[in-house]
Amino acid sequence: MCGIVAYVGVRDAYSVIIKGLKRLEYRGYDSAGIALVNGGINIIKKKGKVINLEEFASNTNLDGHIGIGHTRWATHGIPSDANSHPHTSGDGRIALVHNGIIENYLTLKADLLKKGHVFKSETDTEVLVHFIEDIRNELRCNLEEAVRVALSRVVGAFAIAVISVDEPAVMVAARRGSPLAVGIGDGEYVIASDVTPIIEYTQSVIYPKDNEMVVINGTNYKLIDLENNLLEPYVKELDFELASIEKGGFEHFMLKEIMEQPRTFRDCLRGRLKAEEAYIKLGGIRDYIDEIISAKRILIIACGTSYHAGLVAKYLFEDLCGIPTDIDFASEFRYRKVVITERTVVLGISQSGETADTIVALEKAKKKGAKVLGICNVVGSSIARLTDAGVYTHVGVEIGVASTKAFTGQLAIIYMMALLIAKEKGSLEYEKYRHLVEEFDQIPDKIEQTLKNTYTAVEQISAACRTASSMIYLGRGLNYPIALEGALKLKEITYIHAEGYPAAEMKHGPIALIDENMFVVFIAPKDKTYEKIVSNIQEVKSRGGKVVALVTEGDKTIAKMADYTIEIPETDKIFTPVLNIIPLQMLSYQVAKLRECNIDQPRNLAKSVTVE
Ligand code: F6R
Repeated sequence: MCGIVAYVGVRDAYSVIIKGLKRLEYRGYDSAGIALVNGGINIIKKKGKVINLEEFASNTNLDGHIGIGHTRWATHGIPSDANSHPHTSGDGRIALVHNGIIENYLTLKADLLKKGHVFKSETDTEVLVHFIEDIRNELRCNLEEAVRVALSRVVGAFAIAVISVDEPAVMVAARRGSPLAVGIGDGEYVIASDVTPIIEYTQSVIYPKDNEMVVINGTNYKLIDLENNLLEPYVKELDFELASIEKGGFEHFMLKEIMEQPRTFRDCLRGRLKAEEAYIKLGGIRDYIDEIISAKRILIIACGTSYHAGLVAKYLFEDLCGIPTDIDFASEFRYRKVVITERTVVLGISQSGETADTIVALEKAKKKGAKVLGICNVVGSSIARLTDAGVYTHVGVEIGVASTKAFTGQLAIIYMMALLIAKEKGSLEYEKYRHLVEEFDQIPDKIEQTLKNTYTAVEQISAACRTASSMIYLGRGLNYPIALEGALKLKEITYIHAEGYPAAEMKHGPIALIDENMFVVFIAPKDKTYEKIVSNIQEVKSRGGKVVALVTEGDKTIAKMADYTIEIPETDKIFTPVLNIIPLQMLSYQVAKLRECNIDQPRNLAKSVTVE
């Protein structure tokens, strides 16, 4: 939610920042802007995408070696040129970009208005930069001191980068709650909301903690906290290839990320699962296995797609491990009076590791005494840091706003966790465990087969349903979360209304929606509810609905009834969710393409939701 990039060094700052903003555009694309110090402060900002800003910039002098940039997902104030960042102080001598929310901005604004400040926008960020200016004038101090004092008085979340015309070699960056990475190059610095704008220039990165500030002055830098204590920076060496954040010949990041899944799923298993030895090892939670085995309850907390992965986990932890498992939306958990009984283990799931609701919910669980574990994709993210222990998915950067490979990566970890716990607890017979591990090891190959074998059918179905106004997705048991996730993918990128339901619930209401215009997607593998799903399909057919069925390869019964079938390679019934989601991701992608939607940057969405 909003991305910031800043540069200090010998290069042309504008070029580094604009490229960085393009890489961060997945975080928000309501507006973009850049400010550079060069004699004065030169600012360009424009409503809309970074490309609009770039076109606009071609007529402006943007020379300079120090600057800040921002791509915005609107919170306070509508998307407009005026509300775009960077924002400047009243005297125009300080410029600032901000990701987060200043919660006490109305109180601060009221005080500043009394002192004669005049505001050009409705944003909390403009209040912050005026507040810094006010402190600088009052204390007659430098930029570093003014920012430090201001930040110790604000309530809320921020990652900021600030420059001033009065100190043209100085950049101050700080964070609380919102992500920030500082790339340390050879006499140059690139600061950003994630490392994608940085890795082209350096692999050495500092991740400041909450309430820490990096102050760069020319080629030198220091790390301090808001009490002005000098801190020893921990410089992490990344191992990141530029190719991993580029499209690599694919038309869209989403397509690339769907197609990458055989490899990314294999990467999740690498070093953690050895089929020939029936061995699963999850180093990150090694010391917590006994605690999980003896847990009276597991509680999963997540949002969106990660919530759907958590729902699969609920079924597995209960089915394979016999541990009562509940799941909650992070946004519900955080505002409810919750009962955390003793021996509750909490599991937070988050691709970005920065989702505000999930962070606060996990902190609440921790305060109530629960052990908190995590499954995250982004290394060093806030959730990865706040959990007691956890496992990374390691699927690489996910840039498409609609999550695909991160979801299957989460499933990979969840399956390994459930199998490992079931084995250690003895709730799964060893021979059965061994068979499941061997079968699970085949899943990356089967994802590859699924991608190949289902492509043509998905293409035909996409052409048929491209003009649909609504679709229903139905599944049972472990595939009910896949119905929810399939429907979410469709809504997000095609803007076709879609609902996911447990198949048997259809007759309790949604069946009223069925007519000859309604496409109903059934997830119907050969498992214990197969006969029931066949009956549900008949109920839809007899009301004129169009049936799209995902079936186990060779299933002739449903093929005869359905309007369209998608055949999925055979696997053990517990692993069917991983394969079933693949064609549903591709269906959404193909439909969105036919409808000429902006697939990688769907309207109103942002990749990581760092506001409530
Ligand atoms: C959907 C999607 C969102 C996220 C949700 C949680 O495609 O990406 O629903 O899953 O915002 O985000 P994380 O997993 O980063 O906590």
